[in-house]
Amino acid sequence: MRRHLLYPGSFDPPTLGHLDLIRRGHALFPQLTVAVLRNGNKAPLFSVEERVAMLKRMTKGLKGVSVTSFDGLLIDFLKSLHNPVVLRGLRVVSDFEYEFQMALMNRKLDPTFEVVYLMPDERYSYISSTLVREVARLGGKVDQFVPEEVARRVHEAMHGRNADA
Ligand code: PNS
Repeated sequence: MRRHLLYPGSFDPPTLGHLDLIRRGHALFPQLTVAVLRNGNKAPLFSVEERVAMLKRMTKGLKGVSVTSFDGLLIDFLKSLHNPVVLRGLRVVSDFEYEFQMALMNRKLDPTFEVVYLMPDERYSYISSTLVREVARLGGKVDQFVPEEVARRVHEAMHGRNADA
């Protein structure tokens, strides 16, 4: 029986949807590790270290939840952790195609690969890190999509520390 969930992703930035999924996964599995991909988008808004730090603060108080980063193939990272089950979110039908393709590729690479999909609360089903970045870049407020601290940091990263919040 596997008791460990591994939630991999870019988390650039982490959103309220991600947090909702972490809470749901944590309610089902005693141990949950959030893992930020290192070799992803070449020009991320936040460094991996900043994303790990934000996720750590967001999950503070959730016993059994830890945050780390990984490089290279997901299946290799999973092996180093004794093959936890992967957690991914399905917000809308269009997520399915991408997730299905990734899951089958991972399973081809490693037949022991297993993944569970959870749906975030419907309040978050339209939120993505990409849209949060776009709204912020164009001057919109993002505090209803990400935790307060993340909203502040997104604003600073886009418009500088002294810009009006
Ligand atoms: O939040 P994202 O960007 O949708 O997360 C995608 C992620 C990190 C889960 C995926 O890109 C991944 O696992 N990357 C690691 C490299 C890898 O294993 N690629 C082959 C899997 S199909």
